[in-house]
Amino acid sequence: MKAIHINKPIGVFDSGIGGLTVVAAIKRILPSEKIIYFGDLLHLPYGSKSSKAVLDFSRAAVSFLIRQDIKLLVIACNTATSIAMPQIKDEVDIPVIGVISPGVLAACKISKNRRIGVIGTTRTIESDAYKRALTESDKGISVFQKATPLLVPLIEEGWIEHPVMQLVLTEYLNFFHETEIDTIVLGCTHYPLIREAIQKMLPSLNVVDSAETTAVLVKETLKNRGSFEEDTNETGGCSIYLTDFTENFRIMGERIIGKEIDTTKLIKLNYSETSIKYST
Ligand code: DGL
Repeated sequence: MKAIHINKPIGVFDSGIGGLTVVAAIKRILPSEKIIYFGDLLHLPYGSKSSKAVLDFSRAAVSFLIRQDIKLLVIACNTATSIAMPQIKDEVDIPVIGVISPGVLAACKISKNRRIGVIGTTRTIESDAYKRALTESDKGISVFQKATPLLVPLIEEGWIEHPVMQLVLTEYLNFFHETEIDTIVLGCTHYPLIREAIQKMLPSLNVVDSAETTAVLVKETLKNRGSFEEDTNETGGCSIYLTDFTENFRIMGERIIGKEIDTTKLIKLNYSETSIKYST
């Protein structure tokens, strides 16, 4: 197994603030690790774009992070994981961790009746990535999936406790009433930010997200390769690069990962059919 350099940062990307829920989980168990975060706000939401667009955006994000000399890549976006992970894995020579397998692992562990619901973006749900991964891990599992495309724009707008969020959630979550599921997977890294509202509407269900299990997998992967920073009481910090900036990103970002934010820089990526370049 290839050793990876201990002092290099971990690269994490998502379309917006959702991936910061994964960064926060990584920071909790690996506080001394440096993190470089890429948020593709310019192209948000990924979940309503074509698969081709999601693949192009994801490859550009990865290309940028690889140039920052990262030691491990976390695709902290379910949409990008479901569409682009196999190709990205082929194209880079560092470990790549997506968020779908960790979420599936957490759901299988906690479900008793093996009836599991999944909510996610249109692209994630249409890809059937969760359904495949859940039934691959246990053939007896019944999966009930619902695309919930309005949630990401409302979360990015900061309308977490807004009455419109309640209305939209009621409409979407009604789908699960007759399904007898005992567990629901938040199949989008933005959704932990509305976990409380979801849990209130479905009080008897286990609500599962992939942030914690992804962070554990990051730690195990680095440990196996002898390249994780022991907790030195010094925070590794987090540098954020964005393709567009919104005030709400700053407000929510600080709320999610607190003082860990070192810098926030705006960058410009150039997309082309054959090669991906970037300029700052
Ligand atoms: N947070 C992302 C996900 O996990 C992307 C949401 C979006 O951009 O539509 O799917």
